[in-house]
Amino acid sequence: MNSKRNATLTVGNKKYELPVLSPSAGPDAIDIRKLYSSANLFAYDPGFTSTASCQSTITFVDGEAGNLLYRGYPVEQLAKQSSFIEVCYLLLYGNLPSAEELEEFEQSVTIHTMVHDQMTNFFRGFRRDAHPMAIITGVMGAMSAFYHDSTDIRDPMQREIASIRMIAKLPTIVAMAFKYSIGQPFVFPKNRLSYAANFMRMCFKVPCESYKVQPAISRALDRIFILHADHEQNASTSTVRLAGSSGANPFACIAAGIACLWGPAHGGANEACLKMLHEIQSPDRIPEFIKRAKDPSDDFRLMGFGHRVYKNFDPRAKILKESADEILSELGDADNPILKVARELERIAVDDEYFRERRLYPNVDFYSGIILSAIGFPTAMFTPIFALSRTVGWISQWKEMIADPALKIGRPRQMYIGETGRNYDESKNP
Ligand code: CMC
Repeated sequence: MNSKRNATLTVGNKKYELPVLSPSAGPDAIDIRKLYSSANLFAYDPGFTSTASCQSTITFVDGEAGNLLYRGYPVEQLAKQSSFIEVCYLLLYGNLPSAEELEEFEQSVTIHTMVHDQMTNFFRGFRRDAHPMAIITGVMGAMSAFYHDSTDIRDPMQREIASIRMIAKLPTIVAMAFKYSIGQPFVFPKNRLSYAANFMRMCFKVPCESYKVQPAISRALDRIFILHADHEQNASTSTVRLAGSSGANPFACIAAGIACLWGPAHGGANEACLKMLHEIQSPDRIPEFIKRAKDPSDDFRLMGFGHRVYKNFDPRAKILKESADEILSELGDADNPILKVARELERIAVDDEYFRERRLYPNVDFYSGIILSAIGFPTAMFTPIFALSRTVGWISQWKEMIADPALKIGRPRQMYIGETGRNYDESKNP
């Protein structure tokens, strides 16, 4: 990217010219790559609130306008008109597929849905009550031990096969983690079903009964997958990129992303949010929780509220709010008490000065848990479903990084504020 203008940094009586780069959307960025070598200075930005860590062509978030684009397409259009498998193609390859390309891609994902049979032994090594996130982090990492022929990151064909394998097998792995945790036998994938319907069947079918996926429900789940598919350089994606920058194999990198996603400030918020809504229980208890969220001496936060980038609204939350209404009416549960608490909590919080001042609005995790719970998933499955959806985004970002000729190992610096010049002998024998 060429720079058309410079920024001048003045430190004492010295001036440094720094190029200003202009992306296709979003704020310009000051290129500080030569700052240390030319000025012996570091930039200090914990939490990366003002730092662009890479150039990317995949996803764009406009936090002020509440826009989210995948390869230039608004997520609202994709959620209404596309399918998750088509969105996977779009994120991976940059353009929407033709009908033939889509069919070929779907076929290549479908033929990789089964996992190596010995992997079932790996599952059985976990405690029965293990959280499915703990299981899928371990099993994703273990994939590099099962699929040696797709771990050479310098080979584009191996990168491609590893990518398809992860997108195809993660629903099977997540469903197996669920089945294991509830003591039911594993269900093999059924390749004639859609991606979402196949996942539902692997989670809810039992050998003694037939199981038919309701199209409205698999469509709602597909929409959840689309809305979670990528979100530019969030914590888990940055983790995947950082792990990948050392040349680690793709399965290890995605396992690192899954581990990061689990945290309650990130993908773990959907589980925490539903737990919170159940704890609130009824609309008349909302003021008590709002009071706690505002109290600086209480570490309680409204889960599913606030976002580092979205400062007006999260477009994904808007779509999921509509989806929650639709799916609960479809299931004959339009008066669901938890949905009532959520709607009322949103109404009270967005009107409250504390939340307005800090520009805190419902995020993607606020309504997704209500839908997943209505479909029949327990809270422990919410973050694994997020991981399943985000895998394609992580892989697209990882592939983009590996193919970049400017790839360098990620290695942040620090401001050391600890002791210096201590002497072992003097400390031991004062
Ligand atoms: N409830 C109450 N207060 C909040 C909340 C909340 N959910 N979120 C932020 N604040 C307050 C915070 O206390 C701070 O107040 P003050 O200026 O008085 O100290 C101010 O708002 C700014 O917060 P911050 O922590 O500096 O903001 P951040 O950009 O670092 O954090 C966040 C963003 C998403 C981690 C945070 O809003 C949060 O913890 N939300 C709840 C967890 C959640 O829903 N996470 C899902 C995020 S979206 C999906 C994903 O990323 O996976």
